[in-house]
Amino acid sequence: MTSSEQGVRLGTVQETLLIPLYGRAVESRKPEAVLRDPLAEAMVAAIDYDFTRFDGGSSLIGSVLRTNLFDHWTRDFLAEHPDATVVEIGAGLNTRYERTDNGRARWWELDLPDVIELRRTFFTDSSRRRMLAGSVLDDEWTTAALTTGGPYFLAAEAVLSYLAEQEVRHVVDVLAERFPGALLAVDTTGPGMIDTQDSHDALGKVAARLRWNCPDPRIIEDWRPGTRLLGSHTFTTLPAEVHDGLPEEYRVMIATMAELQLPQVEDYRMNLLRLG
Ligand SMILES: C[S@@+](CC[C@H](N)C(=O)[O-])C[C@H]1O[C@@H](n2cnc3c(N)ncnc32)[C@H](O)[C@@H]1O
Repeated sequence: MTSSEQGVRLGTVQETLLIPLYGRAVESRKPEAVLRDPLAEAMVAAIDYDFTRFDGGSSLIGSVLRTNLFDHWTRDFLAEHPDATVVEIGAGLNTRYERTDNGRARWWELDLPDVIELRRTFFTDSSRRRMLAGSVLDDEWTTAALTTGGPYFLAAEAVLSYLAEQEVRHVVDVLAERFPGALLAVDTTGPGMIDTQDSHDALGKVAARLRWNCPDPRIIEDWRPGTRLLGSHTFTTLPAEVHDGLPEEYRVMIATMAELQLPQVEDYRMNLLRLG
């Protein structure tokens, strides 16, 4: 266990959940924000941890832009399938339910036991929303998730990159077998980011390291014939409907990044797959 501070004790990879949590809290306080997340602000205030170590770089904004795209995909799916089931794989302290729930869908929030213990201090289960303690690598959690029925939207945001490639292949196989036809939102990280992570402005401050080096998410189609990559975006190629809704300051920043073509930016992709 990493004893990050007196207040919060989380395993090494689990500690990374504090980065997007802080990103949403900081974003939420801005006058012009990509998203509002008062619960993230409250959780950051309640958790005894030196979040300021993540200040000063672009990672927090990156995590917010990623969450915003995953939210967009979730809302789109729920608009088409209001009674769907959403599964947050490696939920951390994410608040997607608070931002995108439609009052009808069923939600499962899966994470490792110490994270769920922390999560339970801020969230409670309800008839439509339940937490699951376990690893995505153990298939048992799927039994509970299958009880609510499809169609399924599976979100694995900033999770699978911490696994080894063989483990990711196992997860994709399990998800495709148990949830055929489901949509899977997942991000992938190529060498431009993997090779520079020690000096990364947020990851460089924690012990966990990205392991799955995935230069091209189309590899997932090769792993699982029948699976289709429906969309794949970098921060500089966001879907127009998402990009155009961002505050002006972000659109200017993205245009500058697009000109620079930085490998650590361009090698990072947010993907939407249909599992088969
Ligand atoms: C960077 S955080 C992202 C959290 C959340 N998805 C978000 O965007 O706020 C990575 C999360 O993946 C979880 N995780 C890592 N390995 C996992 C595994 N084998 N099974 C379930 N969750 C895992 C961690 O505990 C952590 O909560």
